[in-house]
Amino acid sequence: MNAIASVLSVAAKDAKIPLLGLGTWDLRGRTCARMVEAALRLGYRAIDTAEMYDNEREVGEGLHGSGLKRGEVFVTTKVWPSHFAPRELERAARDSLKRLQLREVDLLLLHWPNPQIPLADTLGALCKVKRDGLARHIGVSNFTVNLVEEAVRLSTEPLVCNQIECHPFLDQSKVIAACRKHGMAVIAYSPIARGDARNDKLLARIGAAHNKTAAQVCLRYLAQQEIAVIPRTSKEARLAENAAIFDFSLSVAEMKEIAGLIRRDGRVVDWSYSGCMQWD
Ligand SMILES: NC(=O)c1ccc[n+]([C@@H]2O[C@H](COP(=O)([O-])OP(=O)(O)OC[C@H]3O[C@@H](n4cnc5c(N)ncnc54)[C@H](OP(=O)(O)O)[C@@H]3O)[C@@H](O)[C@H]2O)c1
Repeated sequence: MNAIASVLSVAAKDAKIPLLGLGTWDLRGRTCARMVEAALRLGYRAIDTAEMYDNEREVGEGLHGSGLKRGEVFVTTKVWPSHFAPRELERAARDSLKRLQLREVDLLLLHWPNPQIPLADTLGALCKVKRDGLARHIGVSNFTVNLVEEAVRLSTEPLVCNQIECHPFLDQSKVIAACRKHGMAVIAYSPIARGDARNDKLLARIGAAHNKTAAQVCLRYLAQQEIAVIPRTSKEARLAENAAIFDFSLSVAEMKEIAGLIRRDGRVVDWSYSGCMQWD
C-alpha cells in the first residue's frame, strides 16, 4: 500500500482523522479480527466500529494482533441511541473500551439521533466522557442540518465530525455544507453504496481511463473532496484495492460527471429502523 495513504488525514478542530479507514459493520468473529489485523498490516490506520456491530471484542483482537503501537491507529466507536441517557452513555462507553481492550478511543460518536432523550443531556454526557479521558475526540453520526446546528450550539467540547451515508448516488450537499461551516469533518459511510458502485457504467468508464475499478473511482471521488471514507470488505484482496486511491486524481470534468449520478432514491441505508425520519 502506498505509504502516503497511511498518513493522509482530514483536519477538524484538534483532530486529524485519517482519510481512509476500514468499516467493520457486519464483520464478525474470526473474519473481523483477521480483516482488522490484515488492514493494519497493509497500512490502514483507522478502524470504524460501534457497540451495535457486536464486534468490538474482535476489533480489539485485530488491533492488538497487528503489533502496532496504540498511537498509530485511529479507533472510532459509537454509542447506540438506547444508551443516550447520561449515566447509560458513560457505562456504554466504558463497556466499549473494555471489549476493545483500550483505555480510550480516538473518536466516540452518537450513532443516530434519539428524539426521546434531550440532546443537551446526551451531549453533556458525551462531553464528560471526553473530559474524563475515555475518548480523545467526540462527534455525531446521521445528524441532519438542523441537528448539526443544535449539537454545535449545545456542546461544550468541539464536535469533530458527522459520519453520514455519502456516495455519488446521494445528495448530501446541505449537510456537508453545515459540517464545513462548523469545521467538522465529514466521514462517509457506505462510501461504495454497499457495493452498488462496482456496477456503475460511468464509474467503470472513468476507472478504465485511470486503470482503476469503479469502486476505486467512487472512493477517490469522496477523498478528493476531503471526505474521509471507511469502506468495508470481508475479502483481503479488496483491502488493497480500496486503499489504492491516492495515486491518481480525477479531473474537474470527471468530478462533475460523477456528481451527476445523484438520484432521488439514492440512500442504501434505511433510516426508518432507527425512528429518525421525524427529525428531518
Ligand atoms: N454511522 C452509521 O450509521 C453507519 C451506517 C452504515 C455503515 N457504517 C460504517 O461504514 C462502513 C462502510 O459502510 P457499509 O459497510 O454500509 O458499505 P460499503 O463499505 O459501501 O460497502 C460494503 C460492501 O461493498 C463490497 N465491497 C467492498 N469493497 C469492494 C470493492 N472494491 N469492489 C466491489 N465491492 C466491494 C463488500 O463486499 P465484500 O465483503 O464481498 O468485499 C460489501 O458488500 C460500515 O462497515 C460501518 O463501519 C456506519
